[in-house]
Amino acid sequence: MKIFITGGAGFIGANLAHHLIRSHPEDTFVVLDKLTYAGNLANLDPVRDDPNFSFVKGDICDPDLAGELLEGVDLVANLAAESHVDRSIDSAADFIRTNISGTQNLIEAARRAGVKRFVQISTDEVYGTLGPDDPPFSETTPLAPNSPYAASKASADLLVRAAVETHGFPGMITRCSNNYGPYQFPEKLIPLMLTNALEGKALPVYGDGMQVRDWIHVADHCRGVELVLYQGEPGQIYNFGGACEMANLNLLRDLMAALARATGREPEEFLGLIQHVTDRPGHDRRYAMSFDRTRERLGWRPEMTIREGLEETVEWYLGHESWWREIRSGDYLEYYERQYGRR
Ligand code: NAD
Ligand code: TYD
Repeated sequence: MKIFITGGAGFIGANLAHHLIRSHPEDTFVVLDKLTYAGNLANLDPVRDDPNFSFVKGDICDPDLAGELLEGVDLVANLAAESHVDRSIDSAADFIRTNISGTQNLIEAARRAGVKRFVQISTDEVYGTLGPDDPPFSETTPLAPNSPYAASKASADLLVRAAVETHGFPGMITRCSNNYGPYQFPEKLIPLMLTNALEGKALPVYGDGMQVRDWIHVADHCRGVELVLYQGEPGQIYNFGGACEMANLNLLRDLMAALARATGREPEEFLGLIQHVTDRPGHDRRYAMSFDRTRERLGWRPEMTIREGLEETVEWYLGHESWWREIRSGDYLEYYERQYGRR
């Protein structure tokens, strides 16, 4: 089969491409990525020379390109997106363009090409926020996005749904909680804190740091997307989660403990860098995912514990210093000053 992955030079897309190309040597893979600030061709180095892999630099909003590339494609995984909540609060235009218009453009091209499955990679953030005693989100929880990022992802989900209902389009949606692991861009919590700690910089905790997220290792998420891509039922929604709800401050303590063990330093050296800064506007207090239905339908469950996952992630960032140092120079410095300078 021919598999088309958008956003494959980003964090989850690159991990997915590595996993699928290794596990399905009988299939061919095309990655389309615009290489925005978050996309990095180096993320695809491990598969670059594979004869079943090709890369195209381009925009999911381009109708001609989508039409051309989707010809003969069997399965589509759409991961291309603007993905960072804080940037969407700063300016939402790119989020509306890529996440909404780009998804609709792909849906239309995929319909014309007659693909077998189209998997829209979405997020738990479309469900909004939970109180401390609320049950976790399920696939039937009403959508109530609170950030421009989450609203753009919810819009894309609705466009997929509409194509399924109106045109019998073979679309399906996956919604996953917070991912972490190798190749994550250091604007997201875990790689930002790790790389700041290694550089002796402040660890900026928003508000009281008691916001709760559910953490999943990216490898577990990618196994889930693989199952939906190859076996998913058109029209269905699949929740994925890590069964690992943690307050940000507790996660940070575990992460710094893992970093201390790996570097032979004292956790207090790193924890002393914590600084509470102004909270994110509209900050969702708690996310939690029920993936019971996904387990029943696909036999999927997360396998990596948070302890193993954090240790593996710390080792990866320690072993790939040139990767993150390169990113953290140039434009990143400007972003960092804009985002944290006034907090
Ligand atoms: P990322 O920002 O690391 O990667 C996004 C990729 O999309 C980048 O390579 C970027 O260059 C590319 N891209 C952006 N605009 C494009 C366009 N117009 N055309 C083509 N390519 C474009 O994001 P990520 O964390 O890997 O997230 C991937 C997907 O998974 C997103 O759709 C996101 O909403 C979803 N998701 C992420 C998480 C998470 O915790 N990171 C959780 C659930 C769902
Ligand atoms: P993030 O990685 O941006 O993911 P999301 O907002 O999609 O959940 O943030 C995870 C949590 O960490 C979230 O509650 C915001 C918080 N956070 C900080 O406290 N400081 C930071 O510098 C960042 C980037 C995030």
